[in-house]
Amino acid sequence: MLNNNTFDMKSENRGSFSSKIGVILATVGTAVGLGNVWRFPYVVGENGGGAFLFVYILSLILLGIPGVVAEFIVGRHSQANAVDSFKKLAPKTKWHWIGYSGVLAGFLIMGYYAVVVGWTLEYLIQAIAGNLSNMTTAQYGEMFDQFASHPYLPLIWMVIVMFINTVIVARGVSGGIEKASNILMPIFFVIMLIMVVNSFFLPAAKEGLLYLFKPDFSQLKPVAILIAMGQTFFSLSLGMGCLITYSSYFKKDVNLPKTAAQVVGIDSLVALLSAMIIFPAVFSFGMAPEQGPSLVFKVLPNVFQQMPVGTLWSILFYALLFIAALTSLISLHEVVTAYLYENTSLSRKKSACLVAGMVVLLGVFASLSFGVLSDVKIFGKTIFDLLDFVTASILLPVGGFFISIFVGWYLDKRIIATELRIKHPKAHLFVKGYIYLMRIFVPTCIFAVFLFSMFG
Ligand code: TRP
Repeated sequence: MLNNNTFDMKSENRGSFSSKIGVILATVGTAVGLGNVWRFPYVVGENGGGAFLFVYILSLILLGIPGVVAEFIVGRHSQANAVDSFKKLAPKTKWHWIGYSGVLAGFLIMGYYAVVVGWTLEYLIQAIAGNLSNMTTAQYGEMFDQFASHPYLPLIWMVIVMFINTVIVARGVSGGIEKASNILMPIFFVIMLIMVVNSFFLPAAKEGLLYLFKPDFSQLKPVAILIAMGQTFFSLSLGMGCLITYSSYFKKDVNLPKTAAQVVGIDSLVALLSAMIIFPAVFSFGMAPEQGPSLVFKVLPNVFQQMPVGTLWSILFYALLFIAALTSLISLHEVVTAYLYENTSLSRKKSACLVAGMVVLLGVFASLSFGVLSDVKIFGKTIFDLLDFVTASILLPVGGFFISIFVGWYLDKRIIATELRIKHPKAHLFVKGYIYLMRIFVPTCIFAVFLFSMFG
C-alpha cells in the first residue's frame, strides 16, 4: 500500500549536486547538446543568416538569462520536481499545470531528439569503420539520405540510445555523468576550436562568415523571430521545468544569477563555434545553407576529410557530440521520470523504463518521417518537423510565459530576494528591476513575438 510516508521518503532522499563545479557541469550538460551543434546552424541557415543571429543574441540576453534565473528560483526554493514545485509554492491553485505542460513537452522533444542522437551514433560507428572519407559532396548527401530513410537502421540506433539513457537515469544522475562531463566537455571545446581555425582556411571561408555575421534584415521573415525565441528556449533547456528540476538539486550557496550567466555564455559560445565551422564549409563545398535537419551530417564529414588525420577528428567529434547530446537527453528523461517517480508508486527504475518505452513509440514515427512516412504531413509539416515546431516554438515559449508571470506576479518578493541573494548596497534595486522584467517585460516580449509571427 502506498501512503504519504512513501512519498515523503521519496522526496526527502532527493540528493543534490555535491560541488559548485558539479552544478555548472550538470547545467551546461543539459544546455549544450544537439541544440547547439545540430539545430542552431540549420535554423540559422533556414532563416537567412546574420539577421537571425542578431535576433537570437537579443533574445538570449533579454529572455534567456532572466528566464533561466526564474526557473532556478522556483526549483531551488521548492526543492521539488517540475510539477510539485508549483504545488509547493502555490498550493490549491492551477499553477502546477505549467509543470504538466513541461512534462508533456519533455516527452515530445525526446521523441525526435532520441532519433537524432541515434544518427550521431551511426556516424560515430561509420567514422570508426573509416567509412566517412574519400567521398564527393554529393555522396555525403546520399549517404545521409539513404541512412535516414532506411526502414529500420535509424530505429535500432534510437532504441540503443534510449536504452543507454534509461540505464543512466534509472541510477540517478550521480557522480558518473557529472565526472564524465568534467573531463569530456573541455576536450569537446578544444576540438571545436581546432575545427574553427581549420574552417578559416577553407576556400569560401569569407563567404560563410559573412553569411553568418552580416545581417540582411530584408531576409528576415516574421516567423523567424518566433523561431529565434524557440531556439533560445530549446538551447537553454528553458520553459518546461528542466532547469526547475535541476536547480532543485542545487544547494543554498549556489549563486543563481552568476550560474545563469555562465551557462548562457558557454551555451552561446558552443552554438556560435558550430555555426563558424558549418557555414564556411557549406559555401566551400557548394551546398545550400537551408537544408534543414540533415545539414551538419552532410557537411561535417566533408570538412573532416579535408583535415590531416581526418578519421581521427571525426571519431573524436562524433563521440563527444554523442556525449553532449546524451547529457541533454538525460535531463529531458529526468524531468518526466522525476515526476512519475515522485507521484506514483513506481520505482525509479520502472518509471525510467516506462518513459523510455513511450519515447521509443513516438520516436518510431518521428524517424520514419524521413522514410516511409515522409508524405504524411500535418499542417504542412512531417511528424518530425511538427514535433520540433510544437515544442520549441509553442510549448516552450508558452511555458516560459507562464513561469515568468508566476515569478513576477504570484511569488512572494521575499522569496525572490532570498534566492537572488545579491551582495550589493543597492541590491533591492536589482531585485526590483528583476521583478519588473518578469512581470511586464518578458511576458510582453513573448506575447508580442507570438502575435507578430502569427499575423505579421
Ligand atoms: N538544450 C538541449 C540542447 O540544446 C536540449 C534540451 C535538454 C532541452 N533539455 C531540454 C530543450 C529541455 C528544451 C527543454 O540540445
